[in-house]
Formats: sequence, C-alpha cells, structure tokens
Amino acid sequence: MPSNSPFPHAGFDGTLGFRREGYAFVSRRCERLGADAFRTRFLLRPVVCARGRAAAEMFYADDLAFTRQGAVPASATRLLQDEGSVQSLDGAAHRQRKRLFAAILGGDAVAHMRSAFGAALRSAAACWRGREVVLHREVRQVLTRVALGLSGIAADTATVKARARELGAMIDRAGSVGPANWHARLLRRRTEAWARGLVTAYRDGRLPEAEGGALALIAQHRDDRGEPLAPEVAAVELLNVLRPTVAIGRYVAFAAHALVRHPHWREAFAAGGEDDLLPFVQEVRRFYPFFPAIAGRARRAFVWRGHRFAPGDRVILDLYGTNHDPELWPEPEAFRPERFRHWTGDPFALVAQGGGEAAVTHRCPGEDLTLALTAEAVRVLCRDARYSVPVQDLSVSLSRMPALPASGVILRFA
Ligand code: HEM
Repeated sequence: MPSNSPFPHAGFDGTLGFRREGYAFVSRRCERLGADAFRTRFLLRPVVCARGRAAAEMFYADDLAFTRQGAVPASATRLLQDEGSVQSLDGAAHRQRKRLFAAILGGDAVAHMRSAFGAALRSAAACWRGREVVLHREVRQVLTRVALGLSGIAADTATVKARARELGAMIDRAGSVGPANWHARLLRRRTEAWARGLVTAYRDGRLPEAEGGALALIAQHRDDRGEPLAPEVAAVELLNVLRPTVAIGRYVAFAAHALVRHPHWREAFAAGGEDDLLPFVQEVRRFYPFFPAIAGRARRAFVWRGHRFAPGDRVILDLYGTNHDPELWPEPEAFRPERFRHWTGDPFALVAQGGGEAAVTHRCPGEDLTLALTAEAVRVLCRDARYSVPVQDLSVSLSRMPALPASGVILRFA
C-alpha cells in the first residue's frame, strides 16, 4: 500500500483493538482522526478501514472492485461461507449463482415463508403460556423448522433440534477464535455431510416431495458453464439459505428488545397499526449491531479520495458505523423508526445486509425475507401473545460479536 496516501494512520495493528472494541472500533478512530477512512494493519497486513455513504458506494458500486477471496480469516469464512459459495465467486460466475438465490427467494417464496413462520410462531407462543422462555433460543427452533419445511426437507423434532443447534453455533461463533470456533467448525462439518446427503438423495430421485423448494432448486442449478454444482458446493449453498434464515432470530430478539425499551410501539402495533411496522423493522436493522463490517480485496487498481488501491489491497467497510454515521442518520444513537417513514431507500445508506444492487454485488439476497419475518414476529408479539418482562440483563455489549441482548430476551407468557 503506498505511503503517500491522504488517509491518516491509526496505530500499527488494529487486530486486538477490533477484538476489544468490536462494533465501535472503526467509528472511534474515525472520530478521533476527523476522517471517514484510515490506515492500519490487521494480522500485520495493511488495510484501509472506511465508513459512511461514499465508502459504501466505493465498496458496493459494482462487482468489479472487490473480491471476498482471501479477505477474511479462515475462522470466520469456514463458519459463514465456504469454498465455492456464492460469496467466494466474482464476475459472471457470481451473477449466475446469484440468480439461484433470486429464484429461491423470489416469486411468492417470501409470502409463503411469512405465513408459515407466523402460524408456527403463534402456535409456539400458545405452548409458551404459563412459562418463561428465552425468546432468541426458542425462535431459532421455530425458524429452523420453517426453513427446513420450505426448503422441501422433511424433519422430525430431533432433526430440527440438531440443525438449530449447529446452525446457531455457526452464527454465534463466527467472531470467535480457538476452541469455541473449532467446535462450531466440527458441528458445521456434520451439517455439511447431512446437506450433501440430501443433495445426492434428491438427484437420485429419492426425495420427490422436495420438488420446488430450495433443495431442489440448488440441486438442479447449472453454473455459468452449464455444469451442475458439485455436491459439496450445493451443500454449502443449502446452508447459505438455512443458516441466515435461522439468523433472523437475532433481529427478532432485537425487535423484542426495542418493544420492551419503547413500549409505546408495542401499544401501537397491538392496536393494529401497520403503517409504522416496516419503519420499525428498518430501524431495528439500522440501530442494532449484527454484521460489524465486511472485508474485501481490490480486484483492480483504482483511486478513491486520492488513495491509490492496487490489486490485492485490503479494505474493511464498517457496516455498523455507516448505519450510525451522524452524516446519514441524525442522532444515530436514538431508536427512532419515524426516520424511515419517508425513506427513499438509498442503497448505500442502510447497509446492515450490504449495499448496492443485490443481483450484481455481494449484497444480501435475503433482505425481503428478513424484513418480512421480523415484521411478522413483531405482529405476533404485539397482537397474539400476552407476556410480561421479568427482571433480566438486557444490555447489548458492542464488544461481543455478533451481539445479542445478554439475557437473550426472557419473556413470561401469560
Ligand atoms: C439475518 C439477517 C441477515 C443479515 C444481518 C445478513 C447480512 C449479510 C451481509 C452483510 C451480506 C453481504 C456480504 C458481502 O458483502 O460480502 C450478506 C450476504 C449474503 N446473505 Fe445475508 N444476511 C441476513 C439474512 C439472510 C437471509 C435470510 C439469507 C437467505 C435466505 C441470506 C443469504 C445471504 C447470501 C447467500 C449472501 C452472499 C451474497 C453474495 O455473495 O452475493 N442472508 N448477508
């Protein structure tokens, strides 16, 4: 990386600082230096950290600028993505694979998922009557059941429990290193073997009931050279549908946290108000910490704000910091759904799930599903379930990645 860059330096190596300060790491340094981009090192390798709308636009303008290959330590990649997955691809191969996700999540898939999830959550809430439950843990089970069902995968209670545990560990431990991470990787191998078995069974004609679901679409998909996906890659993509669907449980827990902290919203939604439901869920995605940042490596040489990037240079886009950038969001630390009432949908401002155009860039293909299921959970929590909130630790630590309210949100159902 050239030394004549206009970006200031922020310490020799940020690895430990990032572990310690988590979501606040980039923003704190930006504020101290009075800049939206700075240079440091991660694991001794030079990196530019950046936040804000212009940085998001630079990072997500198209699929030519940055690759995810070699950008993130294996400890996180092995749990969240993997060899041959959509996120590891670039250019034409990436766009073709992205069509697969558009097919899985397009049409009326989101509406189906929403109504299946709503029904499952309502019946779960009926079973929770008279009990205290950790909402995050329970909702993950419900989401696992619904995700398997709509992927065309029949599952008994034991399978749902096992998959919920494994998929949950992949999400919880992605930010960890050492034994916790190794254990989750071990679990992941088990889940992958299970997913590979399903792909093979479908291709052998042993799962006709799976027709039309995510499993079938993945097993039938052809890459940009007209070849079917290798079983290992198909298994990874099946997990790329199941795991993040289960991860929506985190937003459900955060939405419940917001309803507890701001009870007037609970009252408004209980009275049937729908107009502010989408703004409320958007504010949950903006306000609460989930993916802290995305790392990429430059695919070509280019200049941004006077800094020359060479192929292979590393950049970290601060997603949380962009969602809390005071330039974009006045009073960013206030939870205020009203700010989304007349929002125009700027693709480089709310970047909880990436930026730009999903069909072209690495932006998440699951945003509509995330919004729909989180909104449905809010409806159920406000309209169909009666609960009180026992004393508990609802603090959300910004140094724990991925974050969650400490208690997991305990609710006592009446
Ligand atoms: C639970 C909330 C979710 C969050 C916070 C989230 C976050 C993200 C982020 C930040 C990215 C961009 C990665 C990058 O730029 O490299 C991404 C990509 C992706 N997400 Fe999500 N996501 C969520 C839900 C979902 C859902 C429900 C699905 C599918 C059912 C999904 C599937 C994917 C896939 C396949 C990619 C890779 C896309 C690509 O590389 O082109 N995600 N997600």
